[in-house]
Amino acid sequence: MIDVAAVRADTPGAAFVTHFNNAGASLMPRPVVDAITGYLVEESLHGGYEVAEARADELRSVYVAIAALVGADRSEIALTDSATRAWDNAFLAMEFSAGDRILTTASEYASNVIAFLQASERRGVNIEVVPNRPTGEIDPDALDRMIDDRVRLIAINHVPTNGGLVNPAAEVGTVANRHGIPYLLDACQSVGQMPIDVDEIGCDMLSATSRKFLRGPRGSGFLYVRTAMLERLSPLVLDLHGARWDSADGFSIRPDARRFELWERSSALLLGTGVAARYAMEVGLGAIWERVVSLAASLRAALAGVRGVTVHDVGSVQGAIATFTVQERAAIDVKAALADAAINVSVVTPNSARFDMEARNLPDLVRASVHYFNTDEEIDRLVAAVARI
Ligand SMILES: Cc1ncc(COP(=O)(O)O)c(C=O)c1O
Repeated sequence: MIDVAAVRADTPGAAFVTHFNNAGASLMPRPVVDAITGYLVEESLHGGYEVAEARADELRSVYVAIAALVGADRSEIALTDSATRAWDNAFLAMEFSAGDRILTTASEYASNVIAFLQASERRGVNIEVVPNRPTGEIDPDALDRMIDDRVRLIAINHVPTNGGLVNPAAEVGTVANRHGIPYLLDACQSVGQMPIDVDEIGCDMLSATSRKFLRGPRGSGFLYVRTAMLERLSPLVLDLHGARWDSADGFSIRPDARRFELWERSSALLLGTGVAARYAMEVGLGAIWERVVSLAASLRAALAGVRGVTVHDVGSVQGAIATFTVQERAAIDVKAALADAAINVSVVTPNSARFDMEARNLPDLVRASVHYFNTDEEIDRLVAAVARI
């Protein structure tokens, strides 16, 4: 059981806003903010390189924390500045040739699809969307039937940007592993929301951000790459951190996942990400998942009872994200009206998940995403505010 009063006391922002934009960026808990600001102050007083040297052990321990969060080895983690950077680092390191097939899911995130389309233009690969089950999640049996010897990659999201849907990532992993096809999982919206174990899922690569359900800072994310996959990936961008300039005409790529990092980055944000990961593990990912599922389910049920409101989430498993429309009101106006009542929500447009939103003929949606520090009273406040619109 989560001590909600305690986690709220640890969340300075909870006193100012009713925050239902955790799928955008959550509210950082105090230990995360203190770690980041404290580190920046030290840099200003003692010098950035000098503080990094003095606190090298602490900075290295961030890899241990992130590895523990997803059930990986620390050598399989690279820290990046966003989930997209992490995902692109993996994707762009793969070799493709004309006629290769990439299988993805209907709810895939825009940035990933844009990279697919670019690969299609540049390298002639074919992008194919695996059908969904009638309940809305990717159908692993349909995926299995689509596989032939031209499939080079299975790349799906775990939880999409535009709804409560949770894709059956482990079932997809079973299919991918049975056929020996590399499997890239976009876990941007699932890390921090639920327990994640890369071995149970069976993914070879996983990308995530710090700022969403993990409650870390903006400008920080990470990539997991399975050891067996690492040597097959040659990063598109390498510097003297990801590789070694061994001789006048030779270099070697470092053996671990940090080949995907650049030497220069924000140590403060990295540290904050590590604190956020440890904080989430202390609260307990199982307990977090149980609470967000229950809060989001009661939010959806209450919204569905408001006249003129339609809830749009699909999936046989649904997590922390609830999406809805209010009859005759644009989503952006609903967001603005809620902001006037100090309630934060966001808007998702077809531009962020076009395959899915066009297939379901969806307009812009209001997205209300709960986290474990939200309360039933806050849900009542949101629903009452929506009812007044
Ligand atoms: C499902 C999904 N994937 C990827 C991303 C991209 O993450 P980032 O903005 O950290 O690059 C997002 C961001 O909202 C997302 O919702």
